[in-house]
Amino acid sequence: MAFYFNESLKGRKIRIFDTTLRDGEQTPGVALTIDEKVCIAEKLDELGVNVIEAGFPNASEGDMAATRTIAGLDLSTADVCGLARVVKEDVDACIECDVDMVHIFVSTSDVQRIHTIKKTREEVSQMAVDAVEQIKDCGVKCMFSAMDATRTELSYLKEIFSRVESVGCDVINVPDTVGVIVPSEMYKLIKGINSAVKIPIDVHCHDDFGLASANSLAACEAGASQVQVTVNGLGERAGNADIAQVVMSLHSMYGARTTIRTERLFETSKLVERYTDVKMPITMPIIGDNAFAHESGIHAHGVIVESETFEPGIMTPEMVGHKRRIVLGKHTGSHAVEQALNVMDIQPNREQLREILSRVKQIADKGKRVTDSDLIAVADTVMGQVSRREQVIALKEVSVMTGNLITPTAAIKAIIDDQEQLAAHTGVGTVDAALKTLESMLGERFKVKIKDFRIEAISGGSDALAEVTIGVEDETGRMITASVAREDIVMASVEAFVVAINHLLSISR
Ligand code: KIV
Ligand code: ZN
Repeated sequence: MAFYFNESLKGRKIRIFDTTLRDGEQTPGVALTIDEKVCIAEKLDELGVNVIEAGFPNASEGDMAATRTIAGLDLSTADVCGLARVVKEDVDACIECDVDMVHIFVSTSDVQRIHTIKKTREEVSQMAVDAVEQIKDCGVKCMFSAMDATRTELSYLKEIFSRVESVGCDVINVPDTVGVIVPSEMYKLIKGINSAVKIPIDVHCHDDFGLASANSLAACEAGASQVQVTVNGLGERAGNADIAQVVMSLHSMYGARTTIRTERLFETSKLVERYTDVKMPITMPIIGDNAFAHESGIHAHGVIVESETFEPGIMTPEMVGHKRRIVLGKHTGSHAVEQALNVMDIQPNREQLREILSRVKQIADKGKRVTDSDLIAVADTVMGQVSRREQVIALKEVSVMTGNLITPTAAIKAIIDDQEQLAAHTGVGTVDAALKTLESMLGERFKVKIKDFRIEAISGGSDALAEVTIGVEDETGRMITASVAREDIVMASVEAFVVAINHLLSISR
C-alpha cells in the first residue's frame, strides 16, 4: 500500500516527559486532590512515561505535598520532576520533595522579560546559571527552560543554553509558551539550537493554533530527543501537545521508539477525564468516542470487510486500547444494520432488512440517536416477533428522596424473573441511587455493568425534556444501548436502564 512514511526518526528513541500534573493542572477550572494526583502518577508510570512533572512545589502547600508524595512512590520507570523558577526558594522546595529532577524556567523573550520579571538579559542568564549550580550541587538532575523561547532571538537562546550547559545542566527545554510557531520554523529553531549545545533538547508546545503536536514532531525531526505532553492535551489556555497524538504519530508515522505501552492510552485518557472533569470532544483524535466510529454506508461497509479501507491501518483501535464502533444513523447502509442485528442473533431476510434499514433512517431523520434498543424494537416489529422478547424486569414503583439533610436514597419495587422484589440504595444523587438499587436487585444472577451514561436536555427550562442514554454490558462484553426521554431525569434513567437490561438479557439468554 502506498504510504508517505517519514523515515527521519526510524528506530530513534524519543523520551516522553508528562506534565499533566503540572501544566495540565493549570487548565482553567481543573484542581486535583493529592489522591487523584497519586492515581494519575501511578497510571502514567504504568503507561511507561519517562518523566512525570508532579507539580510546582513552591507554588502551594498542596503542590508541595503532592510532589513529595509522588516522589516517594515506588514507581517502576518514571523519574519524578518538580518545577521551579530560577530562584533559591523554589529550587529548595523541589529538593525538599526529594525529586529526581528539577525543571527550572525563566522568561527569555523581551516581551516577558521587560514586562514581567523586569531583568536584563545578563541578569536572566546569571540567575539561570546560579539555579543550575544550586541543583547540581545537590546531585539532582536539572532541566532548564527558556520560557517563551519561540519569541526569543536565536542568538540569545544559544548563549543562555550554552551557559547552562557549561555548568552541568542535563537537558534544555524549548517552550512554545504561547503556541505561536509553525512546524517548519520549529524545525529551523531546533536545528539552530542543536548546533550550539550537545546536551539533549526537549520541547514543550502549546496548542493555541492547534499545532502543538505537529510542532513537537517537527522538533523531533530536527533533533529534539524528548517531548513534553499532557494526557488529553490539558494545559494553560488551549492546552499542551496531547500524549496520544504525539506518541502514536511517532510510532506509526515515523517508526520512532518510545517506552509507552500504547494499548493503555485510552484508559489513561478516561481516568484523567474522570478526575479533571474535562470532557473530551467526540472527534478528539485517537481517544475520542468517534475516533474509530463509522456511520456512513460506504465507510461502514468498507471497515466491516477490511478495516484499513476507512481507518489509518497503521493505527488500529486495539493499538490504543479503544474499540471500533459501527453507529446507526441516517447515513447507514444495509451492511451495518445486518451486522448489528447478527451480533444480537437476529437474522432478517433481504426484504425485512430493507424495511428495517428504512425505518432506522426515519428515526435518524427525526434527529434522534438510533440505539440498539431502537434497532431491536424496529426489527421485532418488522419481523413480527414482538412477543419474542421476554421482560426480565418490570417496574412497579420508584421513589427517591433527597435534600440537604439526607443522603440521596431510592426505593424500587419491581418484578424480576417473575418474583416481586423491593430494594433501596443510597447514591451521590438520586439517579445514582436509583441505578444502584436496580443493579443490586439484579444481583449475582444477572451481572451487568453500566458502561455509558449521558443526559441531554432536549428543551430548555426547569421542566426541560431530558433524554437519557444508557449503555449496559453483560459478563461476555456484549453491550446494549437504550434511551428514554422524559421530564423527570430519574424516571428517564431508570426506564432506559430497564429497556437496555430487558433487551440485553433477551438476546443473551
Ligand atoms: O509554557 C511554558 O513555557 C511552561 C514552562 C514552565 C516550561 O509551561
Ligand atoms: Zn506550558
